[in-house]
Amino acid sequence: MTDPKGLPPELRPRHVAIIMDGNGRWAEAQGLPRIFGHRSGIRSVRAVVEEGCRLGLQQMTLYCFSSENWKRPPRELRFLFRLLRHFLVVERAELMEQDVRLTMIGRRDGLPEDVLAEFDRTAELTAPNGGMTLCLAVNYGARAEIAEAARRIARDAAAGKLDPEAVDESTFASYLSTAGMPDPDLLIRTAGELRLSNYLLWQVSYAELYVTDVLWPDFRAEHLQRAVLDYARRHRKFGGLPGRAPASPPAPSPTAG
Ligand code: IPE
Ligand code: IPE
Ligand code: MG
Repeated sequence: MTDPKGLPPELRPRHVAIIMDGNGRWAEAQGLPRIFGHRSGIRSVRAVVEEGCRLGLQQMTLYCFSSENWKRPPRELRFLFRLLRHFLVVERAELMEQDVRLTMIGRRDGLPEDVLAEFDRTAELTAPNGGMTLCLAVNYGARAEIAEAARRIARDAAAGKLDPEAVDESTFASYLSTAGMPDPDLLIRTAGELRLSNYLLWQVSYAELYVTDVLWPDFRAEHLQRAVLDYARRHRKFGGLPGRAPASPPAPSPTAG
């Protein structure tokens, strides 16, 4: 099989998260400044969003800018935010056409006002759409997200709104920025690095990992298809035995005592 659209629904991922890496290397390989790689990467975003919709994914979450990426030179940062703003404006009609709902995770603090304004406009416009959810992780860092959830839980407990004994995995998840979203089933990283780079650490606990050497600006629909077909061949066991795996992780059993 070459087209994962023919897969039975239970073998298809509901949520695909992607670490879009390798833009700089792609540009450098052609003797171009790094920003050309970011610009070309937009074509890959378009291609995977379109393919994600065609495959009937419920959600796709793209790592656009990490909380660590502030270490990049100011010129690269300015370019990245200009590009993001441009994407949010130019792709609006296409997202509507494809029935995509746009959301964002990450800290708003520190992001340029014009980017936030365009994001809010696109999110509001696409909110009623019932197709794939496209979630952009911008100024996102998983450890900060987990620390923030712990802080809010502590605050609610101190205010008497939450019983500390009642805090379980689902309570905790409901305090994360991804509350209400399904956990990623498949995590794709391009450009070959074997690390998570502070991405969705809580949420990918049982995601299937797929790393490809393809650099992000070269990533197209066929590469997403390959990753999804590879996913369909995996045996997800969630700690159980092969062949008896439930379709999704079982609810955690209550702790003793
Ligand atoms: C990913 O490409 C894009 C962002 C992190 C914003 P990189 O810019 O990290 O590309 P490499 O890893 O240097 O090739
Ligand atoms: C991860 O890529 C962040 C994004 C893709 C936005 P990086 O290029 O920043 O990750 P490291 O520095 O190689 O870990
Ligand atoms: Mg990189």
